Amino acid sequence: MNALIVYGSCYGTSQRYAQALSQKTGIPARPFRQVGSLDGVDTLVYIGGLYAGTVMGLKQTLGKLPKEKHPRFLLATVGLGDPAREETVQTIRASLAKQVPEALQKSAVYFHLRGGIDYKVLRPKHKLMMAMFIRFLKKKPRETMDPDTRTMVDTYGGAVDFVDLESLAPLIAQLT
Ligand SMILES: Cc1cc2nc3c(=O)[nH]c(=O)nc-3n(C[C@H](O)[C@H](O)[C@H](O)COP(=O)(O)O)c2cc1C
Repeated sequence: MNALIVYGSCYGTSQRYAQALSQKTGIPARPFRQVGSLDGVDTLVYIGGLYAGTVMGLKQTLGKLPKEKHPRFLLATVGLGDPAREETVQTIRASLAKQVPEALQKSAVYFHLRGGIDYKVLRPKHKLMMAMFIRFLKKKPRETMDPDTRTMVDTYGGAVDFVDLESLAPLIAQLT
C-alpha cells in the first residue's frame, strides 16, 4: 500500500489529528502545501479544517491527483459542529458533494471530527468572518438555535478545544 495522509490546517487541530493518525498507522503525513505529485499514491487520506463549509486545501490537493486512476479516498473533516448530531453531518455532507468530484465520491469514505477555536490567535480575516457570522446567528432567539449554533455563539471570543484523538478509531480501523 502506498498511502499518504495530507492535511489542511490553519490553527493546528487538523494537524494534530493527522499526526496522531500517522503515528498510529505508520503512514506519512504532509501539509497540503508541501505535497507535490500524488502519482503512485493508492490510498489518500485527507484531513482538513472546515471554513464556511469548505475543507481547507482539499481542492488544491485533489487537483494533483492523476486524472486516469483514482486512489482509495478517505476524507475527514474537522469542525466546531458536533458530528454526533445527524444534522451536523448532513450539512457537512451536502457541502462535500460540491467539493469532491463525482468520480471520487463513489468510493470516498467520510469521517467527521471535532476541532476547536481560539479567538486570540485567529487571523484578522477569520476574526471578521466570525464576527459577521455571529451577528447573523444572534438575530435568532436563543431558544430556536440548534446546539451547534449555540456552541458558536457561546464560545465567541473565547477558546474551546474539542479535539478527541480517540475519535480517529474508525479511520484507523480502515487503514490497518
Ligand atoms: C472563519 C471560520 C469559519 C469556520 N467555519 C466552520 C464551518 O463551516 N463549520 C464548522 O464546523 N466549523 C467551522 N469553523 C471552525 C473550524 O473548522 C475549527 O476551528 C477547526 O478546528 C479548524 O481546523 P484547523 O485548526 O485545522 O485549522 C470555522 C472557523 C473559522 C475561523
